[in-house]
Amino acid sequence: MFSAEFWTMGLCWTASLLASYWQLFPIGIAGRCDVYPRSETPRNFRTRLVCIVTGTTSGLGAAAAFALSKEGFCVVLVGLSSELLSKAMEDIREQNKDAHLKGFVVDLSSFRSILEFKSSLEKWLMDSDMHSSIQLLINNEGILATSARPTAEGYDQMMGTNYLGAFFLTKLLLPLLKTSPVGSRIVNVTSFTHRAVFGAQINEDIVTGKCFFRSKEYPCARIYQYSKCKLEFPPSMFSRLSLNWRPLSHAVL
Ligand SMILES: NC(=O)c1ccc[n+]([C@@H]2O[C@H](COP(=O)([O-])OP(=O)(O)OC[C@H]3O[C@@H](n4cnc5c(N)ncnc54)[C@H](OP(=O)(O)O)[C@@H]3O)[C@@H](O)[C@H]2O)c1
Repeated sequence: MFSAEFWTMGLCWTASLLASYWQLFPIGIAGRCDVYPRSETPRNFRTRLVCIVTGTTSGLGAAAAFALSKEGFCVVLVGLSSELLSKAMEDIREQNKDAHLKGFVVDLSSFRSILEFKSSLEKWLMDSDMHSSIQLLINNEGILATSARPTAEGYDQMMGTNYLGAFFLTKLLLPLLKTSPVGSRIVNVTSFTHRAVFGAQINEDIVTGKCFFRSKEYPCARIYQYSKCKLEFPPSMFSRLSLNWRPLSHAVL
């Protein structure tokens, strides 16, 4: 019970949370907050604004999808399970019958699935007479795994889902965000726990999660913290990852 992981979560995460509150405190006092002008569709834009929210079958993602549908966005819901996605869309429509929704089943821990999503999304945008761009991408999906599992491509599941998947999706959708005739935005849902990571040397072993497998016990707290960091992704690694669809010969587990 009192393992290193236990103390990491108990002490470091409490300190990280307090540091986050400390940072937000002056903003709360001053009442200063950047507001994204999102509720009105600009006049020169004749179709709906499109936003993509990942991890929409529960929690923050489901709440964000509902709120954005109320703002008039066409919301693209991304989830792992088709049943849960249908249920999430039903729930939104119950409270907002005018909601414009589209669901896609995507496993964000799989590069192949993300690539397929990009093609399906582009086809849907074309078929549905929408502008071929998106205005908002919210990378919200996330897991806190307590045991080791590899992704389809052989990376650590938590790094694969929380970090590599979000990064890869963003990279693929960047052209659609850039061609938006109105301002577009990317929101990454991270966690206060990333504050517990100090002076990380960024390398392939960290971003793929391989370096964490040297210890006997699965260091779930440490991996979660890293997966929520704004780690700089080495550009050379992106081309290697995206072109190599075969399971890696040096699988993590
Ligand atoms: N809740 C908190 O206290 C807290 C604190 C700090 C940060 N966060 C971050 O906030 C985000 C949302 O948290 P939450 O509490 O709302 O979590 P949640 O309720 O567990 O929702 C996570 C969502 O991500 C989806 N997901 C998981 N793996 C996926 C994959 N491989 N491909 C596609 N979707 C996947 C889940 O789908 P399934 O349900 O089908 O698995 C679920 O819809 C996460 O990134 C989390 O790390 C949360």
